Amino acid sequence: MTRVVANPRHGDLRNLLSVADLGPDVASGINRVLTLTDSFVEVSERAIPKVPALKGRTVVSLFFEDSTRTRLSFETAAKRLSADTMNFSVGTSSVKKGESLRDTIETIEAMGVDAIVVRHASAGVPLQIAQWANSAVINAGDGWHEHPTQALLDCYTIRQNLGDLAGRQIAIVGDIRHSRVARSNVAAFSALGAEVTLVAPPTLLPPSLEGWPVKVSHDLDSVLANTDVCYLLRMQRERMTEALIPSLREYTATYGLTERRADLLPGHALVMHPGPMNRGVEIAANVADRPNAVVIDQVRNGVAVRMAVLFLLLGSGIEWGGEIDA
Ligand code: NCD
Repeated sequence: MTRVVANPRHGDLRNLLSVADLGPDVASGINRVLTLTDSFVEVSERAIPKVPALKGRTVVSLFFEDSTRTRLSFETAAKRLSADTMNFSVGTSSVKKGESLRDTIETIEAMGVDAIVVRHASAGVPLQIAQWANSAVINAGDGWHEHPTQALLDCYTIRQNLGDLAGRQIAIVGDIRHSRVARSNVAAFSALGAEVTLVAPPTLLPPSLEGWPVKVSHDLDSVLANTDVCYLLRMQRERMTEALIPSLREYTATYGLTERRADLLPGHALVMHPGPMNRGVEIAANVADRPNAVVIDQVRNGVAVRMAVLFLLLGSGIEWGGEIDA
């Protein structure tokens, strides 16, 4: 049995700000996290789903933007590893009294934390914090930029249901322009050898797709029959500064995964969504409840994936033998 002993310093992964941080060979970096996740899925299924791997470590959540899944998932992951957790709510903190981000970070670090999980409406804030902080920094979503743990849990969920991602056809549908999930997922899916097609009206695509390893389509109906994973995104209206679609009704008519469209997917195809879903807009209510819609699996796997990430960042650098000393 492998004994997991927390090191006084970080593991070999220093921060997780983007998918590229997983290593010079992104695919092996992702696979390493996914293999470790298998062990934490096993822990999560135990009667007492807790191991002492990060006892004595402190993980603080610093969320400047709303979140249900990501925040609770990181907190659960840290607790299952026996780390202490601190929660910072911007609305009730001294940020409201004008305290700067840098002073906020210094204050938190003075209390002795080991990892900072940060979500912010502006791209680059986690990187800025990582430059100031001694703690490990995990990006839980920054503006339109990246959301690396979402990409990892999505890779894990696809692998769990369909096996290897290599050669799989993945359609990412919807508001790609404002989506950090899309950016991290394109990087991760393509690193693992999947072929990604972005399906959206031109106004909801990024201003430039130069360097994106993707195909583009404006016709969802024609893409679906050759799709293994249909990954839907919410209209992120809080990030839109202008009217980019004529109306939600028209968007649903053209790009929504209606029941008729879902029937065009092959029988084995998965329907995925990072949440929060807007039923009746990008996905029909009944489609979200079909057995091939794995949205709840994504949430469940999110906890184990984040346990793996926290362990890699804060745990010892020992070779992983697949068992955890309970
Ligand atoms: C996403 C996010 O906040 O980036 N949700 C999530 O973390 N699961 C997607 C969204 O807000 O639409």
